[in-house]
Amino acid sequence: MLNGEKILFSGMQATGNLTLGNYLGALKNWVQIADEYTTFYSVVDMHSITVRQDPAEFRKRARNLLTLYIAAGLDPEKNCIYYQSHVSGHAELAWVLNCFTYMGELNRMTQFKDKAAKHADNINAGLFTYPVLMAADILLYQADVVPVGIDQMQHLELCRDIAQRFNSIYGDVFTIPEAYLGKSGAKIMSLQDPSKKMSKSDENVNASIYLMDDPDSIIRKFKRAVTDSEAHICYRDEQPGIKNLLDIYCACTGKTPDEAVKEFENGGYGDFKLAVGETVVSVLRPLQEKYQELSKNKDYIDQVIKNNAEKANYYATKTLRKVHKKIGFPERIR
Ligand code: TYM
Repeated sequence: MLNGEKILFSGMQATGNLTLGNYLGALKNWVQIADEYTTFYSVVDMHSITVRQDPAEFRKRARNLLTLYIAAGLDPEKNCIYYQSHVSGHAELAWVLNCFTYMGELNRMTQFKDKAAKHADNINAGLFTYPVLMAADILLYQADVVPVGIDQMQHLELCRDIAQRFNSIYGDVFTIPEAYLGKSGAKIMSLQDPSKKMSKSDENVNASIYLMDDPDSIIRKFKRAVTDSEAHICYRDEQPGIKNLLDIYCACTGKTPDEAVKEFENGGYGDFKLAVGETVVSVLRPLQEKYQELSKNKDYIDQVIKNNAEKANYYATKTLRKVHKKIGFPERIR
């Protein structure tokens, strides 16, 4: 708790172009629940170097992502929006937590297995210990709540295990965080293969809606979305393409799957796809406009970066000092 409010932490990587999955599974929820918590929203740039990045491009993407957080509706006066690399406490706590995490636990992480398979020429130690850095992110701010999509649940479970292990040795040091999954949109699937998650790194550009896609591209991608030959709009696992489109529609409108099915059940797939596409266009348009406007205001964004890094550092240091004391590091002489 901070100032009588529960604490929320979440983060996103600045690699690739953000997709509608990132928005509906994470960012949109962040904005919806921000007022109920004291929040820390990080651009987790340290996570991104587990895969090689072009420095100039990477720096630009990180800034774009930070700007996008604000464009999506997070007020940086109320929400601590900052770069992970500006708070050294993340790396420091990650080291400590590395010593409380077992190889066997990290070996079980499905994201590690997937990424190792994808980047077979660069299976670095950072890729392996990535979930420990993620645990440090969360525990550093004593977060009660962590809004994420389903793909991050395994990492969150590990974070809870590490925190409990640490607490069982040293007393109540860390708050044990809970995941927050949105009512809909927690797993948006590829438009070209609805058995796969919609992902920034998909090679097929028609598989993902990118947040900066123009309206024509969005509509075109929805029109091409892979469905089935049932010719009947139902919300069920046997029709994963249609189910995904209904999920997207519900996450955008706040409607339930039942309500959405009633609305479209007497129509054809073509009209349904178009309606979903138009809904997505109308959700992304204000975000894109605000983003363009903010991007022009360099001084304002710089000020946000500076002020919030200081704020994040302040809270991070508090936890870190507590941890150092508990594990027996020597006291600092002032
Ligand atoms: P990242 O950058 O891959 O994704 C950011 C957020 O978007 C969600 N997401 C999705 N949700 C629904 N459908 C999809 N297709 C989809 N794709 C992505 C993710 O679940 C995530 O919430 N390791 C994290 C970043 C991170 C983090 C943290 C998150 C680092 N430290 C601490 C929470 C707390 C990641 O790579 O997310």
